[in-house]
Amino acid sequence: MAILKMTDLDLSGKRVLIRVDFNVPAKDGKIGDDTRIRAALPGIRFALAAGARLMLTSHFGRPKEGEFSESESLAPVARHLSGLLGVDVPLLRDWLDGVEVEPGKVVLLENCRFNKGEKKNDEALARRIAALCDIYVNDAFGTAHRAEATTHGAARYAPVACAGPLMSAELEALGKALAHPASPLIAIVAGSKVSTKLTILAALAEKVDQLIVGGGIANTFLLAEGVAIGDSLAEPDLVEEARSIIKAMRARDAAVPLPVDVVVATDLSPRAVARTVAVAEVGSNDRILDFGPQTMAELGAMIAGAGTIVWNGPIGVFEHEAFAGGTRALAAAIAASSAFSIAGGGDTLAAIAKFGITDRVGYISTGGGAFLEFLEGRELPAVAALRARA
Ligand code: 3PG
Repeated sequence: MAILKMTDLDLSGKRVLIRVDFNVPAKDGKIGDDTRIRAALPGIRFALAAGARLMLTSHFGRPKEGEFSESESLAPVARHLSGLLGVDVPLLRDWLDGVEVEPGKVVLLENCRFNKGEKKNDEALARRIAALCDIYVNDAFGTAHRAEATTHGAARYAPVACAGPLMSAELEALGKALAHPASPLIAIVAGSKVSTKLTILAALAEKVDQLIVGGGIANTFLLAEGVAIGDSLAEPDLVEEARSIIKAMRARDAAVPLPVDVVVATDLSPRAVARTVAVAEVGSNDRILDFGPQTMAELGAMIAGAGTIVWNGPIGVFEHEAFAGGTRALAAAIAASSAFSIAGGGDTLAAIAKFGITDRVGYISTGGGAFLEFLEGRELPAVAALRARA
């Protein structure tokens, strides 16, 4: 069933509550990568221009419910957003009992996860939130995999519930790319742990032609193939799962390409000496922190021939220059490829920004967990709630 779109509604003078995802990296009161905030601007600007009495709600981190904490306050986001919009965006600390806002003005509601019952999607809380507005809008694709009071319950009880432009664009772009992907379909799933990405790896193993794994995930796959990985980060208890993914891929004539050379060091300190070695030569004290140039050349050739590329997670510890080569080469290969590419996840967005390929990726999703669950083919609860109201 089609979802109602905010841009199709008359917002003039209406109390409009937009659930956005402003869960962005911040340090010492300063916003780091602001991709998610910028991605929400079209919806906010549209509602303001239409004369809505606009309220924005978002979570920020994972605070203890029922308690205010300065470090999880949305204050830095309110300042940053004011700068981007060029208007003052007041931050409202207590908002559950009612919000006063003029038509064409916007307020940001303090971290919704300070409210008791937010995470558990408490019905009474969701009804109070829904009562604040005439129109509930979900524009938080990044949190669409969570069934919480502001993402799910409020959509059920608000007079009208619809999707904002970012949510609509994400669902359309990702849906289109995955419904009929041009082949070969290559997925790159990297990151520190197999455990957090096991279900997506298993789901992709049934669909993709090449499943490139990187980071600590690759180390667990190397272990599964009997390769000694020294002191590298890995999850030995998930070796069996890794083996069955390799087996499932081979049975379909598909592959999990593993590195032939890697960049190692004995620690991650600034004084650590990085060495490139063949994968068979990893020493017992070595930690694998990136893929080597030969591996990246092979993967680059594969990517050059892809029809569709799905990317989540950096190959190595790219924040350190000595271990950034693999992710840089991957970014360059994706940018140069004529395949349709989609990318998502916080670290992936940071890598895309760092290596300057933003304009050369087909679609960049603001979702991390939501992006992965969408790729798995799961229905996202926040989207289901909007569908049910359509
Ligand atoms: C994310 O950053 O993936 C979303 O904002 C969801 O955050 P959460 O994992 O704390 O629910």
